[in-house]
Amino acid sequence: MLKVVVKAITTPRQRQWARQVLGRLRPRWFHPAGLGFVDRFDSFLPPYRLHLGCGSVRLAGFCNVDALPSPAVDVLDDIRTLRRFPDGSVQEIYTCHVLEHFAHDEVEPLLRRWRDLLQPGGQLRISVPDMDRIVQVYARNFDHFQKPGHTPWIGLIYGGQTTPYDFHKTGFNACWLRYLLERNGFTDCREYPHVPHFVPGTQDASLVKEPFGEFLSLNMVATRA
Ligand SMILES: C[S@@+](CC[C@H](N)C(=O)[O-])C[C@H]1O[C@@H](n2cnc3c(N)ncnc32)[C@H](O)[C@@H]1O
Repeated sequence: MLKVVVKAITTPRQRQWARQVLGRLRPRWFHPAGLGFVDRFDSFLPPYRLHLGCGSVRLAGFCNVDALPSPAVDVLDDIRTLRRFPDGSVQEIYTCHVLEHFAHDEVEPLLRRWRDLLQPGGQLRISVPDMDRIVQVYARNFDHFQKPGHTPWIGLIYGGQTTPYDFHKTGFNACWLRYLLERNGFTDCREYPHVPHFVPGTQDASLVKEPFGEFLSLNMVATRA
């Protein structure tokens, strides 16, 4: 009934505008940090540096983007689309422990979206849980995982599962990630060191090494061809 009335008194253009506005507001209604959220998109100018899936990690000099609000977030957006950022307007993208949150068939379209956003020569830095490191460290510490109460790295492999955005749906090693990047418009794909963090002083999931003191992330930098 309400739908019929709304349709009768509005134009398609007005309804499209309302859908866009409501779509932007929705994450704030469902999240405790959302009520006070202030969108800071307008305080950034191209060429942008984007920190995608920032969670609670705020990087100075970057536009920090996430689907869920937190004090670290500048822009609430779905990082698969990022419609407010024009193609070719971005000089650098960093995304840490985020790519594994997408299904297998979403990963390549996502990489292509990020390629289109980047200027030629722009850089993409990706950090993900490294399946090669995980199996090696797991095997070296096999006995630890046989003790009651020690999870077999369920969080690292399947995600924290605290929000609908916090589930791991795929996994990577260096060979697979390089292959996907090269297929989707990136060159010069190489691993970069965990420390020092490329943004000095940053503490994020790229540095995870608990509980055995060995790094568990794969950090790769690639150039937009
Ligand atoms: C494991 S957290 C990583 C947070 C931070 N980068 C770090 O290293 O601590 C993954 C983040 O990706 C965000 N995320 C997942 N899917 C997303 C999507 N489609 N659009 C925007 N953010 C998304 C989640 O909300 C979450 O904050």
